[in-house]
Amino acid sequence: MQSRREFHSRLLGSAITFGLIELLQTRNLFADTVKPTIDKWFLELATMTKDLKDRKLTDLEFQTKMEDLYKRVDLKSLCSLIKLDEVEKKPLPDSGASNVGFDLSKVEGLPANVGFGKQIFGCKKDKSIVPHGHANMCTGFIILKGEWHGKHYDRLETKADHYIIKPTIDREFGVGELSTISDHKDNIHWFKSLSDTAYIFNVHVIGYDPKIKDAGGRLYLDPEGEKLADGLVKAPKMSSADCHRKYG
Ligand SMILES: [Fe+2]
Repeated sequence: MQSRREFHSRLLGSAITFGLIELLQTRNLFADTVKPTIDKWFLELATMTKDLKDRKLTDLEFQTKMEDLYKRVDLKSLCSLIKLDEVEKKPLPDSGASNVGFDLSKVEGLPANVGFGKQIFGCKKDKSIVPHGHANMCTGFIILKGEWHGKHYDRLETKADHYIIKPTIDREFGVGELSTISDHKDNIHWFKSLSDTAYIFNVHVIGYDPKIKDAGGRLYLDPEGEKLADGLVKAPKMSSADCHRKYG
């Protein structure tokens, strides 16, 4: 039997707890505390994607925002949400990278059409996401597992059978590090796995600018082409097969 004093004390405690929850709910603090940060992270990504497609953001502004967002990712929650452990059970190819999609339908508040494409790339040691550029696409990587050597180039000119490119990034990337590309900055990327297995998260936004008439898809090229003045390179265009044969 509890005493009358204990009963009143417990009742008061419950009332205070209930009142606190009510206060937090009123101020929307409770929801903010409980809601998984990764859901809000993807929501932010979908919002900036819409802003890019609505032309409220230039590609360079989007690229900066994407980098800021990528730097704030909760990597553990991201890997859990996209089920990296299950992806790791699939075999990796002997040339190039595997490409596995993931499901975002459980993310609270996310529109059915998020506006961006998404995938996980995986490579065995010494295999590559081969060198390629893009037209009318903004895209970004986050290293999920392993060590990678990443190279980027600005695509300065497009000719009939080659590109004029300028090396911009050439360094190792570890877990949690990121890189982004747009039509106007670091447009070409190439990532080679330095680990037995290595994985990269990718989101890409295609066709954001109706004024860019170049065909979408990957623009394969050989970045180890003829060296020109001022560090520029004449990089021959390549087929996917040739690029994978040389760099995959
Ligand atoms: Fe790419």
